[in-house]
Amino acid sequence: MKILNDEDIYQRELNRIFAQTWVYVGHESEVPEPGDYRQRTIGEDPFVFVRDENGTLRVLFNSCRHRGANVCRAEKGNTTHFRCPYHGWTYQNTGDLVGVPQKGDGFDHLDADEYGLREAANVDTYNGLVFACIAPDAPQLEEYLGGATWYLDMYFDLIDMEVIGDPQRWVVDADWKTPTENFYGDNYHVPMGHKSAIDVGIGSETATGEEESELYGIADCDGHAFSIYQIDSEKPMFWGHPEDVVETFNHDALDDDQHEVARRSGVTLGTIFPNLSFIFLGGRDDPNKDPVGTFCLRQWQPRGPGKMEAWNWILAPKDAPAEYKERVYEVGMSTFSAAGNFEADDIGIWDGIDDAAGSVFVEQTEATTLFTMGRGENAAATIDDDWAGPGTAYADGGLTDENQLDFYRTWYETITTEGAE
Ligand code: FES
Ligand SMILES: [Fe+2]
Repeated sequence: MKILNDEDIYQRELNRIFAQTWVYVGHESEVPEPGDYRQRTIGEDPFVFVRDENGTLRVLFNSCRHRGANVCRAEKGNTTHFRCPYHGWTYQNTGDLVGVPQKGDGFDHLDADEYGLREAANVDTYNGLVFACIAPDAPQLEEYLGGATWYLDMYFDLIDMEVIGDPQRWVVDADWKTPTENFYGDNYHVPMGHKSAIDVGIGSETATGEEESELYGIADCDGHAFSIYQIDSEKPMFWGHPEDVVETFNHDALDDDQHEVARRSGVTLGTIFPNLSFIFLGGRDDPNKDPVGTFCLRQWQPRGPGKMEAWNWILAPKDAPAEYKERVYEVGMSTFSAAGNFEADDIGIWDGIDDAAGSVFVEQTEATTLFTMGRGENAAATIDDDWAGPGTAYADGGLTDENQLDFYRTWYETITTEGAE
């Protein structure tokens, strides 16, 4: 339990996880034009996610090469240059140093080519999702995502999506691992933790299981995990999107198996290690209207032991009508955002876990938590050998701790890898 609120372990996580693995920085649609930028963090480190003059996506370390001040102060914008507010060094949005005030007086010897902004060693995009890895020795992004690509294609290749509005951000007194573990597939908490939201009818049929459905937990997927509702219906489900929006999807992008899983999909969620989660959810902003399919990408940003900042982006199909996108945003905001119904259910619970983890009692008694659900002799979830995608598919409500254990196995392997600090 202690791992959820411990300074030494937290520092290890920053050094060995966030500085060594591929970490999500943003969606391509957030910086569509040359010069567009957004401030982002990797672990706790400040970066600028920018599309430079040549259209290349860069993740620049937001720190002047002179004395280290942040050169980018605005959350977002469009600029050709970043000028440091301290002494005025000026950098192109490629990171190149192009201006040093009074250079002839004090910096005659300075070779500007050597003093561009530092940047993440690796930046790559998968279906519009942009990731960066600070460390030079990174596997290819696609290799890192492994079997998860089969699932990500089903969402981001099938649907050209764009971020609507700005990400919502809020600080939570919970360790980043608590929601991450939850989004690896804690299907067990839904009937209890979200009972009131379900009882009042928030969410569509595809969200509440009114239709005949099967919930799968997908584990053993190269360190990443998913939970997928499959609705037993001949109708196109596609997470609650209506027919005219489904028509705009790139149906040819998927193979037959992927397409069939997508067609039958109700609520779907998952997590890419270390801290990028997502949820697809059908829901309503108006009881008299048909549901819309909303999609939230979320990132659990470490901000100290037992403390995090939650970031939430709402995405909609790019080619859907503007009015539909607005409804997608409304439903996303009312379910999974700082003030969302489902979000509030979870957050109110998570912060107590971390308080307990940092307690003297835990320190002195080595209290532990339990990860035995549906395992060994208690196996409740059966493995579906016919599941078409990568990983192991646990059927029967996904009631197993295998998904969450996948997270902690990957976490443990990563923080214990030698030579990474
Ligand atoms: S710290 Fe940026 S110019 Fe001095
Ligand atoms: Fe939840």
